[in-house]
Amino acid sequence: MKGDNRLKTTDMLYEGKAKIIYATEDPGLLVMKYKDEATALDGAKKGTIANKGLVNNRVSCLLFKLLEQHGVATHLVKQLDDRSVLVKRMQMIPLEVVVRNVMAGSLAKKLGQEEGQVMAMPVLELYYKNDELHDPMINGYHARALGWATQEQLAVMEQKAGQINQILQPFFDSIGIILVDFKLEFGLAEGEILLGDEISPDSCRLWDKESMAKLDKDRFRRDLGQEAEAYQEVCQRVENALGN
Ligand code: TMP
Ligand code: ASP
Repeated sequence: MKGDNRLKTTDMLYEGKAKIIYATEDPGLLVMKYKDEATALDGAKKGTIANKGLVNNRVSCLLFKLLEQHGVATHLVKQLDDRSVLVKRMQMIPLEVVVRNVMAGSLAKKLGQEEGQVMAMPVLELYYKNDELHDPMINGYHARALGWATQEQLAVMEQKAGQINQILQPFFDSIGIILVDFKLEFGLAEGEILLGDEISPDSCRLWDKESMAKLDKDRFRRDLGQEAEAYQEVCQRVENALGN
């Protein structure tokens, strides 16, 4: 797709908390631009993490490429520059699919469990993507009854989430990182379910295998400091393993 670097962006279609989406001259393609602004608690907590946009874009592009190589269809077309990526336009399914390998975060709180316990099997959860409602946890019945996804689509997303975990968990392990949990979003393009959004230190919990240091957005959520350094560390390790 020669010349994509000069593909003109036209209207801004949507501005989210972490990214801006632009239309392009090609109706099937969008540009996703990452911001350095960080939010947590559904936008109530605001800040900036130096170079977050750059890191998240780079990490996400490299991981999506890795997933594509393993046969997972994604929206990725190609990285355009430090903070922008060209992606396929999709109709987003309004769900967040969370996969957990290690107990942490909202599940630890909800079930009164210690963070850090390795669970006997990965746990999959669905959330309805809606800031005003604080992304409530739902199950497949809710998703089907409310028309957010069909039974077939839920089965495909569940299968893909498991497959993605089986690719990413050993990959992160190979660069000294425990993939504690992560969040995925899917969309539809020409009837096919593609992985969309991002996979980055914003959307995963990543713990250093040796020090158990948190290398993800929990540094910001929990005021632990050194967010930028943690993001940079993840970027460097992913780049060393997958960049060329
Ligand atoms: P949780 O423990 O807060 O439910 O988060 C589980 C995982 O999902 C964690 O890796 C962070 C990610 N996540 C997002 O990417 N966006 C969100 O809005 C939330 C709540 C979690
Ligand atoms: N992304 C969500 C927010 O900005 C939640 C989070 O990542 O903590 O509120």
